Amino acid sequence: MSELKRVTGSIPAGEPVRYRLAPMSRDNVDQVAGVERRCFSHPWSKQLLEEELDNLSASFITAQTLDGTVIGYAGLTVVLDEGYINNVAVLPEYRRCGVASALLDVFVRFASAHNLAFLTLEVRATNESAIALYQKHGFGQVGVRKNYYDDPKEDAILMTRFFDQSDQGVTV
Ligand SMILES: CC(C)(COP(=O)(O)OP(=O)(O)OC[C@H]1O[C@@H](n2cnc3c(N)ncnc32)[C@H](O)[C@@H]1OP(=O)(O)O)[C@@H](O)C(=O)NCCC(=O)NCCS
Repeated sequence: MSELKRVTGSIPAGEPVRYRLAPMSRDNVDQVAGVERRCFSHPWSKQLLEEELDNLSASFITAQTLDGTVIGYAGLTVVLDEGYINNVAVLPEYRRCGVASALLDVFVRFASAHNLAFLTLEVRATNESAIALYQKHGFGQVGVRKNYYDDPKEDAILMTRFFDQSDQGVTV
């Protein structure tokens, strides 16, 4: 169980919200789709997320408050020794509390424990908060995909964290 260290937005000041990390499931996939809709201009549909539940190569984890409200989630797909992070999203009122960091830490530890060569992802070039998040977790820019995104049209920055045998999965 984790506890939000700081509070923002609509969370009453001085009232830390406790949350836990748990797998995405058929019981909460509807809420995850709701997080997607609030966080992205092209959200993944509930159907697409449900398909990931049957994908043995994919792992989707949620951050939930004690009453089961999903406040954030992240998804990882593993192909051989390569890890592809699909989405990381946290509801606006719960941001800057370390939730995305907690979700990413799970994948970093998994990558280290299972000898993945790298974790990689794409992020909008203007998404400064996400880029700062990934940099904090050891990801560096390795490339650009021109005009990758729509609404608005924008380049994607490819960010990758490489692992080697000396990497213990500790957040940098
Ligand atoms: C990007 C996002 C996932 C971050 O979630 P979060 O829970 O607020 O992130 P954290 O609280 O764990 O932040 C960890 C670090 O990321 C960086 N960061 C996060 N938000 C930031 C912001 N708005 N401005 C600058 N740095 C930011 C900081 O380094 C922060 O560490 P600090 O709080 O000690 O300074 C969240 O803003 C979000 O859901 N955005 C919309 C969806 C999205 O763009 N997802 C990424 C798609 S690739």
